[in-house]
Amino acid sequence: VKEMEERVWEIKRAFGEKLFLPCHHYQKDEVVQFADATGDSLKLAQLAAENEKAEYIVFCGVHFMAETADILTREDQIVILPDMRAGCSMADMADIVQTEKAWKAIQEIYGDTVLPITYINSTAAIKAFCGRHGGATVTSSNAKKMIEWAFTQKERLLFLPDQHLGRNTAYSLGIPLEQMAVWDPIAETFEYDGDLQDVKVILWKGHCSVHENFTVENIAEIRKTKPDMNIIVHPECTYEVVQASDYNGSTNYIINTIKNAPSGSKWAIGTEMNLVKRIIAEHPDKEIVSLNPHMCPCLTMNRIDLPHLLWALESIEKNEPLNEIKVSKDIAKEAMLALNKMLQHV
Ligand code: 13P
Ligand code: SF4
Repeated sequence: VKEMEERVWEIKRAFGEKLFLPCHHYQKDEVVQFADATGDSLKLAQLAAENEKAEYIVFCGVHFMAETADILTREDQIVILPDMRAGCSMADMADIVQTEKAWKAIQEIYGDTVLPITYINSTAAIKAFCGRHGGATVTSSNAKKMIEWAFTQKERLLFLPDQHLGRNTAYSLGIPLEQMAVWDPIAETFEYDGDLQDVKVILWKGHCSVHENFTVENIAEIRKTKPDMNIIVHPECTYEVVQASDYNGSTNYIINTIKNAPSGSKWAIGTEMNLVKRIIAEHPDKEIVSLNPHMCPCLTMNRIDLPHLLWALESIEKNEPLNEIKVSKDIAKEAMLALNKMLQHV
């Protein structure tokens, strides 16, 4: 391990500003120690868009984040994902063929009254679809702002691919659950009991397999055993969990809330395990636990490890970069429209 770490430092020193290594908060410590920047999806997208010096961006996160970085950087900047298996199960829940089919069904019912919005956790093709139809991307940091904006454009919106972030955010803006329908892309039907004309938000039936592991039972257990504990969760958790918790917000929000909390305060956190462990280590003055005692890792984020990082860096050193992420020009152009709408609003 020591040898591998030394090699990574050596390559980083040799490349200097020509190499940029951004890391998502869910990455392992063995990778985060080398980060030039850590952040949530929004911050990492902004940093990629601003970076003019790097020739190589070795993205320690998941596939859709590396795609986003490629879209937002110059043609000659090379984005690398150290392990191609680092996908996101949620992003994979909406493919473009399913989305076009859903759009057709939606248009038949609602005509031109719907704006498509996608969580940044989606493929470049889905972002391009939204860009093509006047929509935008959102992250968990700005979903509220972007949904408010969406309603200045159209009467209704289609929110892809995370039903929970869509439902939680729309509800926090005062939209009742009765005005939200779920589109099931497998059955190709709406899940909705009432009159579809009353619907304001169409939620894609996708979810995060990590955040769905936090349950109301976990919350009930904490309330019973540690009633003075604050419960804070990511809005990818279900509506019921978000409602039963004390606070909810993006990874950055969670980090900052706990950082600014008084010494001695107690917290149960409902988000990915690597981040929770890091927050616990950084705040020995606070009592912090994972909301789910079995801890929930994001298996795909975890695929980026020290050996894969070194392997990717050595390929750059040899001038034969491997695992390059390249979004086709046509898709990138339309996806950029959706991303820029978001970046202009935050
Ligand atoms: P944020 O980084 O926007 O909080 O999202 C969390 C996540 O699940 C990333 O995949
Ligand atoms: Fe995707 Fe969930 Fe992992 Fe985030 S935590 S990358 S949404 S599977």
